[in-house]
Amino acid sequence: MLDQVLGMPEQMAEAERIARRAGYGPRCSSRLVAVAGMGGSGIGAELVRGLLAQDSALTVVPCRDYCLPAAADRSSLCFVVSYSGNTEETLSAFEQARRRKCRIVAITSGGRLTEASARLGIPTVRVPAGLPPRAALGYLFVPLLVGLEKLGLCRSYRRDMAETVKLLCSRRRALHRQARLIAAGLCGCLPSVYSTSRLLDAVAERWRCQLNENAKVMCHTNVLPEHNHNEVVGMGKPAFLARRSVLVALLDATTHPRTRERLAHVLDITRGAFVNKVELEMRGGPDLARMFGLIMLGDLVSVELARLLRVDPMPVARIDELKRRMGRGKERQ
Ligand code: PA5
Repeated sequence: MLDQVLGMPEQMAEAERIARRAGYGPRCSSRLVAVAGMGGSGIGAELVRGLLAQDSALTVVPCRDYCLPAAADRSSLCFVVSYSGNTEETLSAFEQARRRKCRIVAITSGGRLTEASARLGIPTVRVPAGLPPRAALGYLFVPLLVGLEKLGLCRSYRRDMAETVKLLCSRRRALHRQARLIAAGLCGCLPSVYSTSRLLDAVAERWRCQLNENAKVMCHTNVLPEHNHNEVVGMGKPAFLARRSVLVALLDATTHPRTRERLAHVLDITRGAFVNKVELEMRGGPDLARMFGLIMLGDLVSVELARLLRVDPMPVARIDELKRRMGRGKERQ
């Protein structure tokens, strides 16, 4: 898993080559882009939404359920993303997209999604198989972004991508060192990862998912400034949490100056509600690079925490067991 995380920039570069070669079909003018996908295959949509919200009028709606939103119709574009190609909820959304005659593009490494797309002549970006889905983030995220560009729905991120790859390569050793320190501080604690900008909301979520799946621990996330209007009151309760909570704040150039001020006040007035705090910010480069800098850091923290907790980051036995049980239930129906 550590190799996979450290190899993220190379994977992004390869994913871009794959996506540039892939056929997405003719350009379109959809205003709504639904993206169906779960877990490791769903986070890419959230990241794209956060990124595009900075400079595009396009509405990206991540769908992490069996159903598409009612607004998805024949004028909409629907990406269907499943690394395995066999995820029940995603396949159900895929069927719905077909019934509603959405324009569909599939992103997958195989499975039933590949078979169905080939049979129906649906444009498909085939990515390399054999990884845990969460370790295939580059393969699952980059084709979304390149696809939107090739379909004429967003600007080109080609240059940002090249800069991101370069920055991640040059910073990965330093990020790894930083991750070891952060992981040591998280050991035995409940991390609360707070995003302070809409560019970083999905990054905080990625931190949570990676800590869940790699380190096999719980993790809490929230976003500022919304947090200031509710959660700030409950922080530190129940009392046992205060003795075991670590606050991780993700900051960025896109964080509103007043939100920075808010964070400083929160840290002051909730002293005693956590045992430690870490403020993290990537500097320099385009939005994409700062986003992925913090993603890589979080991924490295999760692997290092797994090492400290002596758990294998690779298997996700409970997810597998749930899929098995749900599969059995389906056979009986
Ligand atoms: O990390 C994981 O294994 C999960 O979150 C999967 O990504 C999720 O269950 C969906 O599976 P897939 O990515 O194959 O569609």
